[in-house]
Amino acid sequence: MSARILLVDDEVAFCELTSLWLQQAGYQVETCFNLNDGLEKFNRASINEEQDFNLVIHDLALPPSFRPEDTLAQLHHFNTVPMLVLTGHNDKALAIKAIEQGAWDFISKPVDPELLKIVIARALDKHSLLQQVSKLEEQLNTQTNFGLIGNSPAIQNTRELIQRISATQVPVFIQGPSGTGKEIIANAIHQGSDRKLQPFISVHCGAIPADLLESELFGYKKGAFTGAEKDRKGLLATADGGTLFLDEIGEMPLAMQVKLLRVLQEGNYYPVGSRELESIDIRLLSATNRDVPTEIKAGKFREDLYYRIKGLTISTTGLSERKEDITPLVNYFLDLFNAKHNSNNHSEKLKINAEACQWFLNTPWPGNVRELKNTLESAAAICLNGVITLQEIQLIRGETTLENEAVKIRNDSAEPLEDQVRNLEINLINTALEKSQGNKTHSAQLLGITRQGLINKIKRYQLD
Ligand SMILES: Nc1ncnc2c1ncn2[C@@H]1O[C@H](COP(=O)(O)OP(=O)(O)OP(=O)(O)O)[C@@H](O)[C@H]1O
Ligand SMILES: [Mg+2]
Repeated sequence: MSARILLVDDEVAFCELTSLWLQQAGYQVETCFNLNDGLEKFNRASINEEQDFNLVIHDLALPPSFRPEDTLAQLHHFNTVPMLVLTGHNDKALAIKAIEQGAWDFISKPVDPELLKIVIARALDKHSLLQQVSKLEEQLNTQTNFGLIGNSPAIQNTRELIQRISATQVPVFIQGPSGTGKEIIANAIHQGSDRKLQPFISVHCGAIPADLLESELFGYKKGAFTGAEKDRKGLLATADGGTLFLDEIGEMPLAMQVKLLRVLQEGNYYPVGSRELESIDIRLLSATNRDVPTEIKAGKFREDLYYRIKGLTISTTGLSERKEDITPLVNYFLDLFNAKHNSNNHSEKLKINAEACQWFLNTPWPGNVRELKNTLESAAAICLNGVITLQEIQLIRGETTLENEAVKIRNDSAEPLEDQVRNLEINLINTALEKSQGNKTHSAQLLGITRQGLINKIKRYQLD
């Protein structure tokens, strides 16, 4: 697609002539005769990405004020694309100022069409190179950190494991509290494997009703049951050659666990209602936020299946156990929201003030990274002037949160630290138990610890 150029100049005849030259050179050109219209057209185009301008050419003395200072003050609005500034003869000082403000180059009037075309071509080339570099940097970043932000020992360890295990065929079992990136890890393993061009099929075992799970996974033959009007391929067949990710495998009904184990042992299965064996080649990844040994003891998870799927286990940890990851995560998500909502307006980059940042650091985050991300995104959506403060956080979180318990205790500095920590833990545990009506598994999830960990603490603090 040819590059789109926005030309802003109050001389109508000049605009017409220049547009003609540029169109003949293969560019699409739009013209505006004053600064406000130019800015508006530019902004409107950047909201609709397909019509984005690739370059802006404009005069410095533009209506309504005709004062170059006024134009210079607005230049930053265009600076997501190269800007060429038109200056009067001998207006070197102004040209330099414009370049200091981010303009790519200047051309003095009367404009030489050949020179104009050369300068435009160079500016566009350079800009597209810069864009490619930043895209590559981004890709490289995701390749080295797998989209898993943080530098705590736990995260570094996880990245190392992902790197070493991806290229193998070993099944991987990802275990850890809700919202700690289990899905990112599964994706990263697939992306790092030689199956990356084959399908990655993610099945949320808890989201599919028990009686449908078998036909969803294995597929069925026409007439296998009422409503089976034609053959249907199952998710196993869809994943053939690639990776099957069984998310929340702890929620898989026992009967289905038996069937799955058979498939994994034999490498083949019968679609529902079929007598023909289908063979499959899949790499299996699975995840759960439940404590599987406890589930096994309770008779809810088959031990033989566990040994089959667990190959290598990657355990994720709650955010409260790796607080050093909070600041990098906050910065990463702010960048992400900036890129998503604000990509063309550098002057309104989202920020967070020091107090709010501290609050993020002090909050226990029972819902882990997911909760942190959601909180930050809601705060970003309602903040004023692009700065997130405690005010937005209070508005979002209301009064009776686990976090407020933490704040209350922290402020009571008369007590020795050890007692404060102990009381804080007791308070958080009680609040979590209350919130989940005494359900220990759910409370442990809220607190970002294992169920056994919670039981130990309940015993230690005699909270029974
Ligand atoms: N280390 C991290 N870096 C960047 N983003 C993260 C990280 N950990 C989690 N996230 C983000 O947090 C959200 C929740 O992550 P994810 O879905 O992978 O969690 P999960 O462990 O699978 O949780 P659940 O058990 O509830 O399914 C996602 O938006 C994910 O991108
Ligand atoms: Mg998940």
